[in-house]
Amino acid sequence: MSEFTGKVVLVTGAGNGIGKGIAEKFAKHGANIVVVDYNEEAGQKSANELTKKYQKAIFVQADVSDPEASVRMREKTFEAFGRIDTIVLDAGIAYHDTVDQISIEEWNRVLATNLSGFFYTVKAFYNDFLTNKGSMVFISSGSALTGTGGGVAYPASKAGGEGLMRGLAKELGPKGVNVNAIAPRVIESGLLTVNYPTKESQKKLIDQIAVRRFGQVADVANAAYFLADPDNSYIQGQTILLDGNRSIR
Ligand SMILES: NC(=O)c1ccc[n+]([C@@H]2O[C@H](COP(=O)([O-])OP(=O)(O)OC[C@H]3O[C@@H](n4cnc5c(N)ncnc54)[C@H](O)[C@@H]3O)[C@@H](O)[C@H]2O)c1
Repeated sequence: MSEFTGKVVLVTGAGNGIGKGIAEKFAKHGANIVVVDYNEEAGQKSANELTKKYQKAIFVQADVSDPEASVRMREKTFEAFGRIDTIVLDAGIAYHDTVDQISIEEWNRVLATNLSGFFYTVKAFYNDFLTNKGSMVFISSGSALTGTGGGVAYPASKAGGEGLMRGLAKELGPKGVNVNAIAPRVIESGLLTVNYPTKESQKKLIDQIAVRRFGQVADVANAAYFLADPDNSYIQGQTILLDGNRSIR
């Protein structure tokens, strides 16, 4: 038995990469999982794998940048499991463009996914958290601190997400809801290759990381589990920089 046995954990972006790893970590510890992704094939596969290996997981196809999809996400969660305990906000996108290359459409898409997407998901479940307590974990990025990592829209969206996280921590802390963020950098997953597409650029990058390796999906999953665990509820409104000591040297 763990703190998460019988609990319900929703992870956006759980069809691939970091979100998928986070979903598996909670499933391993007994939670039922709601896999949210706009990629139907990947999301369904992820939910099927979790159900086969652990306990029931459902897939909800939703684009987090659509507020109505977030409402449906909540309906499906309650239809299947009747409760929500933790949400992990992971779905995110990045492009590697300079300001002159960034179209208004691209700017809006990044903000709509990485920032408004967080808000819509939180809003859909807000009243449930008021009554049932629980925890929220935001997947930010070291980019919120450094300004790097995928064109200016990306760090702008991630810094906005951290502001949202800190505001929610103040608002929901008195209601018994834990809200924190993880700021990963250089995790061996989908978005890493947007900025470092070649083996050579990746090798150079490793020399800038004090622990001399890329972070792994499991590193982020372990931190997400730690922050969501009610045993660690005195940590509130914080961002854990998960970067192998690359950013501050
Ligand atoms: N990989 C890294 O080095 C790194 C570093 C810092 C932060 N992050 C953050 O971690 C998160 C996951 O990154 P990843 O590397 O695992 O990426 P990934 O591309 O491997 O996975 C992202 C998942 O989110 C889904 N998704 C994207 N937009 C969506 C939308 N609008 N609605 C629903 N689902 C959507 C995708 O289909 C995909 O399954 C992102 O928020 C990213 O900003 C990653």
